[in-house]
Amino acid sequence: MTREQRKLDHIRHALTTADTSGNGFRDMQFIHQCFPEINVEQTNVETMIGPIKSAAPIMINAMTGGGGQRTKEINGAIAELAANLGVPAACGSQMAAVKDSSQQDTFSVMRERSPYGILFANIGAEAAVDEAAAAVNMIQANALQIHINPIQELVMPEGDRHFNGLLEKIAAVKKELEIPLIVKEVGFGMSMESAKLAVEAGADIIDTGGHGGTNFSAVENSRRQNELSMFDSWGIPTAVSLIETKQSVDVPVIASGGIRTADDILKSLSCGAAACGMAGAVLKNLQEKGLEKTAQEMNDMIEYIRLGMTALGKKRVKDLTGSPVIISGSTGLWLKERGIS
Ligand code: FNR
Repeated sequence: MTREQRKLDHIRHALTTADTSGNGFRDMQFIHQCFPEINVEQTNVETMIGPIKSAAPIMINAMTGGGGQRTKEINGAIAELAANLGVPAACGSQMAAVKDSSQQDTFSVMRERSPYGILFANIGAEAAVDEAAAAVNMIQANALQIHINPIQELVMPEGDRHFNGLLEKIAAVKKELEIPLIVKEVGFGMSMESAKLAVEAGADIIDTGGHGGTNFSAVENSRRQNELSMFDSWGIPTAVSLIETKQSVDVPVIASGGIRTADDILKSLSCGAAACGMAGAVLKNLQEKGLEKTAQEMNDMIEYIRLGMTALGKKRVKDLTGSPVIISGSTGLWLKERGIS
């Protein structure tokens, strides 16, 4: 099977296997305050993700690597959607295009459709310094995402089996990089320990990529005959991963993994996230409803974030941090076990 076919397969299966077991935010409840003392029009949903300004606390996360016309169309739509919303968009892994320049237009289309927007390049941690630089140049990126995906690789029969020395490689890329470095998981979550290692290696921003949304173990299993289901329920739910990461490192954190609603976003922001990343849910909407309807729904979601901020009496995104919540269920238990109060 070609890489292009595999990437298209991922898209198809990601739309049908999204995990519903929970991103952890259902265990979290805001404590209602009946005197917000602000008006909806006083709320400002702009946020800073480190030095990156976004018009709303949302970004469209990395999805489509590989090459081909379909990938190019999706990448173009994602870039345009994000530019219209004034939020960042990441492309999927660019390694194939770094190695084969005939595939570069799959990604450069994003800069064409979003000449002034915020775009994140994307490459795996195995990338050499010059490969990372090529990915950045390909889309004149505003930041570089390095993805870490050991479980996705292990569950793929043709996947990578070598994970030695990745932190060193990340450090080498960071040394030469002139834009922020985001280290991200892809749906199995970032722990306290991993976040610390990523920041020591040079991550300026962490993207949790937690469990509770797109599940690459389920995606890979639905593509193959002999299932390896051991990893289907593996991973750190996004809410937990966010709290663990905020506990262990002092860098901006993007909460991602199963983010679908304004409620997920408000809860993430209350736990200190700078913004939320959405991948699978946006892809599903784009495929099923098209660009215009997806944009409308995302605008609605931003409006709902405003309503939530009003209910909580918070004018700015950063004011949401620390809004009182009750954390119960398995999320509460996990945090207690890990010594996080
Ligand atoms: C992804 N994701 C991803 N991440 C990455 O860093 N590089 C990549 O090439 C891809 N490819 C990819 C393809 C498809 C079809 C999907 C749905 C996702 C992972 C993505 O960025 C995100 O971390 C996870 O999908 C979890 O977020 P959601 O989907 O639950 O919002």
